[in-house]
Amino acid sequence: MILVTGATGKIGAEAVRLLTGKDLPVRALVRDASRTPRDGSWSGVEIAVGDFDRPRTLDAAMAGVDTLLLISPSVPAQEIAVIDSAARHDVQHVVKITNHKATEDSPVGRRRDHARIEAHLRASGMAATLLAPNLLMQNLFFLAPQIRQTHGFEMSAGNGRFGMVDSRDVSAAAAAVAAAPAGHEGRTYLLTGPELVTYADVAAELTRALGQEVEYRRVTPGQHRERMVRAGLPEPVAASNAQVFGLIAEGDAAWLSDDVATLTGRAPRTLRTFVSDHVRCFGATA
Ligand SMILES: NC(=O)c1ccc[n+]([C@@H]2O[C@H](COP(=O)([O-])OP(=O)(O)OC[C@H]3O[C@@H](n4cnc5c(N)ncnc54)[C@H](OP(=O)(O)O)[C@@H]3O)[C@@H](O)[C@H]2O)c1
Repeated sequence: MILVTGATGKIGAEAVRLLTGKDLPVRALVRDASRTPRDGSWSGVEIAVGDFDRPRTLDAAMAGVDTLLLISPSVPAQEIAVIDSAARHDVQHVVKITNHKATEDSPVGRRRDHARIEAHLRASGMAATLLAPNLLMQNLFFLAPQIRQTHGFEMSAGNGRFGMVDSRDVSAAAAAVAAAPAGHEGRTYLLTGPELVTYADVAAELTRALGQEVEYRRVTPGQHRERMVRAGLPEPVAASNAQVFGLIAEGDAAWLSDDVATLTGRAPRTLRTFVSDHVRCFGATA
C-alpha cells in the first residue's frame, strides 16, 4: 500500500491519479473527503481522512503501508509526526518532497525547516528518497488574477533565471519512485523543467499565448513583500516569499537536471506547454 499525504495539493493529487492508474494500491490522506476529485481519476483510491496535527488520524492511515509519499506544507512538527507514525508502522520507504537548498544554516526559514525534517527522516532509519523540485510552474496561478485585471504582473526576481518545473512532472517522478522504490534508497533527485527561464520569458510566453501584451513589472523585494501583505498573505509568508524572489534574482534557482527524464522516461514539460495547457486561467484566448 502506498500512502500519499498532501493528496489534494498540486503534487499529491496528480501523483495519486498516476499511481492508481498503474493499478497500485493507493491510500490518499485528506483533511476533507469532499475535496477529492469527482471525475473518476481517483477511482479505486482508498481515502483516509486525517490531519497532520492529529497523530491518531495518522496512525489510522498508516496501517499496512509499505511506501509513504510525504508531501506537506513542510511545517517540521507536522512532517515529523508523519515520519514518527510511519516508523511505528514499519513503513519500508519514504519518498519526501523537499528543497534543493535545504540546509540547517540556510538564510531561508522554509529551507531550514526542510533540513530539520530531513535530519529526522535520516535518524528514523527508514529507507528514503528525496525529491527536490525547482520553482513550480503552477505557482504562476497565483499571478493569474493580477494578469487578468492589469495585463501584467509584479515580481521581484529581476532577470534571475530558474529551472521552472511543471508540478505534473514532479508528480510523475514521485509516482515512479513510489511505485518501485528499490534502488532509490538514499538518493536525492533534482526535478527541473528542460530550460532556464526568467519572468521576462514568462511574460513573453503569456503574451504569445493570449495574443495580447502581458507586462513583467519589476519591483524590489521590499515593495513585493508590502504588496503581498496588502493582497492578504500573512506577513511572515510574504517576507519569506520576497526573500526567495530576491535570491532568485541573484541566480539561486539557476539550476537544471535530467532527473525528471531519468525517472519518468519522458522529457519534462516546457513553459510553453504549461502556458498553452492553462491559457484560459490567465485571460481570454486570442
Ligand atoms: N511551490 C514551489 O515552487 C515548490 C518548490 C520546491 C519545493 N516545494 C515543496 O513542495 C511541497 C508542497 O507541495 P504542493 O505544492 O503540492 O503543496 P500544496 O499544493 O500547497 O498542497 C498542500 C497539501 O497539504 C495538505 N495539508 C495542509 N495542511 C494539512 C494538515 N494539517 N493535515 C493534512 N494535510 C494538510 C493540503 O490539504 P488541503 O487541501 O486540505 O489544504 C494539501 O493537500 C512543500 O514541501 C514545498 O516546500 C514547493
